[in-house]
Amino acid sequence: PPLHSLISAPDFQEVASHVLTPKAWAFYSSAATDLVTHTQNKALIRRLMFRPRVLRDVKEVSMKRTILGCESEAPFFVSPAAMARLAHPDGECALARGVGSQGVLQCISSNASYPLSAIVKAGTKDQSFFLQLYVNSDRPKTAELLQKAAALGIKAVFVTVDAPVPGKREADERIAAEAVASAISGAVASNDKKGGGMGRLMAQYVDKSLIWKDIAWIKKVSGLPVILKGVQSAADAIMAAEYGASGVMLSNHGGRSLDGAQPSILVLLELHRICPDIFNKLEVYIDGGFERGSDILKAIALGATAVGVGRPYLYSLTYGDGGVEHLTQILKDELETSMRLCGITDVDQAHPGLINTQDIDHM
Ligand code: FNR
Repeated sequence: PPLHSLISAPDFQEVASHVLTPKAWAFYSSAATDLVTHTQNKALIRRLMFRPRVLRDVKEVSMKRTILGCESEAPFFVSPAAMARLAHPDGECALARGVGSQGVLQCISSNASYPLSAIVKAGTKDQSFFLQLYVNSDRPKTAELLQKAAALGIKAVFVTVDAPVPGKREADERIAAEAVASAISGAVASNDKKGGGMGRLMAQYVDKSLIWKDIAWIKKVSGLPVILKGVQSAADAIMAAEYGASGVMLSNHGGRSLDGAQPSILVLLELHRICPDIFNKLEVYIDGGFERGSDILKAIALGATAVGVGRPYLYSLTYGDGGVEHLTQILKDELETSMRLCGITDVDQAHPGLINTQDIDHM
């Protein structure tokens, strides 16, 4: 279908399910075992209800946000996802162009199909990027990548902490992988006797022995702010602040790691309950199941600085940079409408009082 006929993130998902190769669809859409966490990520966001305010002059609206020191036209960004080339030959470069034209930020995966320098170069001159990091068991390789990232002007490092080993993604295992490699990490997916799980095969280099004190090393080598991606409890958010992280990203890898892990929105509520002052110490980001502007507004109202969007961007990439740009506009439009209907004109005005959390407060 023509791009202009798509009007929502689920529309892009529907098209992607038909046009992606069966392997790419399986890799992108899959999640761990019974998809409990994957399904509940979205379901629980939907169980939060707005408490809109009225009569507040909502003619002019601003969605601008500063994300880790970078100006963004909206409080959402591209979550890092491996191997964007399976959706479009230009892969992560097309993503960079698509969001760059919209003033939206991109976090590049360690397992991207294109080299870091090519992706950065695809963006506009003043476009900012973040790098997601899987620490390699071969530590000098990670040091080299971090130094390269700093030299290329990458603004922050998102260290993924929810996947010391990959989750068991059965749809991905069941379809044989063509041999593909990441131009950043060098990870290769092929097949073995367990199956064709691209996620699993590309994770073989990841250091399973990573611990809290390694965060200081990553900061030192890169000279960049470090965000821990995949924090799933208040206890670990508190430790993240103690160990010098600039932020946390509440995430369960889109339900691809531990199935049954609590949905990210519950972790956000847990921070309010257990360590409300953490919002003054750390920037809090979140992802998993956000596909509507209204979904994004809920997390912002509950204290997130910005929301990561994963699969919807991969699906939009089936239309190249035009699709990425179009999805970004759709999310901005939906967010703007939701803000107006909630009675706010700036994302900074969003606050917990706008959200009725009763339905999931005792989970
Ligand atoms: C991911 N994700 C991910 N995370 C990460 O830290 N490094 C990575 O290389 C990848 N790769 C990856 C590939 C694919 C195909 C998907 C779908 C996801 C997880 C990603 O950053 C993010 O946490 C989730 O995708 C968020 O959930 P939604 O928005 O997809 O529901």
